[in-house]
Amino acid sequence: MSINHPNFGMIADNRVIIFDTTLRDGEQSPGFSMNLDEKLRMAEALAELGVDVIEAGFPIASIGDFESVQHIAQSIRGPVITGLARSGRDDILRAAEAVKPAERKRIHTFISTSPLHMKYKLRMEPDAVLEAVGRSVALARDFTDDVEWSAEDGSRTEPDFLCRCVEAAIKAGATTINIPDTVGYSVPEDIARIFTMLRTRVPGADGVIFSTHNHNDLGLAVANTLAAVGAGARQIECTINGIGERAGNAALEEVVMAIRTRHDAVPFNNGIDSPKILRTSKLLAAITGFDVQPNKAIVGRNAFAHESGIHQDGVLKNAATYEIMTPESVGWQKTSLVLGKHSGRAAFRDKLRSLGYGEVGDNALNDAFRRFKDLADRKKLVYDEDITALFDETVVREQSRIKFISLQVWSGSKAQPRAVLELEVDGVLHEHESLGDGPVDATFNAIRAIAPHEAELRLFTVGAVTEGTDAQARCGVRLEEGGKLVDGQGADTDTIVAAARAYVHALNKLMVKRARTEPAALSA
Ligand code: KIV
Ligand code: ZN
Repeated sequence: MSINHPNFGMIADNRVIIFDTTLRDGEQSPGFSMNLDEKLRMAEALAELGVDVIEAGFPIASIGDFESVQHIAQSIRGPVITGLARSGRDDILRAAEAVKPAERKRIHTFISTSPLHMKYKLRMEPDAVLEAVGRSVALARDFTDDVEWSAEDGSRTEPDFLCRCVEAAIKAGATTINIPDTVGYSVPEDIARIFTMLRTRVPGADGVIFSTHNHNDLGLAVANTLAAVGAGARQIECTINGIGERAGNAALEEVVMAIRTRHDAVPFNNGIDSPKILRTSKLLAAITGFDVQPNKAIVGRNAFAHESGIHQDGVLKNAATYEIMTPESVGWQKTSLVLGKHSGRAAFRDKLRSLGYGEVGDNALNDAFRRFKDLADRKKLVYDEDITALFDETVVREQSRIKFISLQVWSGSKAQPRAVLELEVDGVLHEHESLGDGPVDATFNAIRAIAPHEAELRLFTVGAVTEGTDAQARCGVRLEEGGKLVDGQGADTDTIVAAARAYVHALNKLMVKRARTEPAALSA
């Protein structure tokens, strides 16, 4: 059986739609917030990767969210662009306005249906919820033929009531029905049972796409997703690197490669260009400053590394002995020395293109190229990861009110650490000397003296971009002001300079956030 969908036309029964929610559910997790440019870059990468639907944000949540969804709707061609909305009129109008410029648009509206959520979160009677389902979907249909309805906490919803809600949504015109495992409580058997029940019991079920959306609280998000597909779901909601609320969502790369590698057991197709998976994963890590853990399936540094002699010997004789898919099929290549200090501007521009940055403006290119030459002088080997870290820094610098200029630090076991810092604030150069309990503390004190602020430091992290003692350090700084969190990242061969850059980055983000008003609180 195949379905005629308003945005996709006839969909073959063995085709699964990949719905990416990295920019909405993923971005909702603490520390993963992205600014407009970062979201646009991610959206471009997702379109190139071949996702079918991009959930670009939650337009009523903030002006920033609205603008990102609208810009993505204006500029990204290919995938359907959707924005999330609760069941209220204002939410739906805001989402409709944000996705309006899209070539292909969808409104995704949801309401909680479980007894727990209805009673304590919504404080609504089931009949009122049922009425809201029909009303919200019908309103959304005034703006687009492609409407998705979600039953928040659907997997913990009483089965008869879930059937009635789904029936109401279909009658009101929903074209996709999504049943989230919002709190990651289900096991695969539960999920399969729910989809089988809905598809057999609800009138009109054969004319809509069923969708699955699984959180990873018990580490079962991918298994639950595959179980849903086995029971008839044909849309998979997922995120790059599995980011998302709490323990995250089903990881796109894991679901896609499970389907591809075990096509015998999961015989479905999708439009993902799998060799682009790794670079999309790395772009997200570079933007958010959170690397995936080394043993992360598909995209972790160790995912294709063979340590034991027995395994290495087997792989050398025949890679299939210990590799169930080729590293190249998800974008891993032999580590390459990308550029040297004699490389020219054209090669550098080319490298940026191959790393997924597209056409780079002259200012950003010149600045990044200067920094690359400087790095190549200090560091023996310059890898793709170094270029990514360096270029992300450059983009941040270009758009910032506060710019890092220089830092000199004296520290050691005998004297109190001292930092002399130069920052440019709104075009004016400032210098300050500070003492501290350590070199990082002295540096952060100097930043606070030049750019006074109330925000509290909540998290400071240090990692390495590549390996070796000459590797660039990547630092992360989380600041909190009035309940708002911002995260900044910085990279440099000098760890203290990387820390200073990260702090300045976070501060710049905070100023952007302050400049925006936040009209409504999130509830999803
Ligand atoms: O997890 C969830 O229930 C959600 C819905 C809003 C789709 O993210
Ligand atoms: Zn979710």
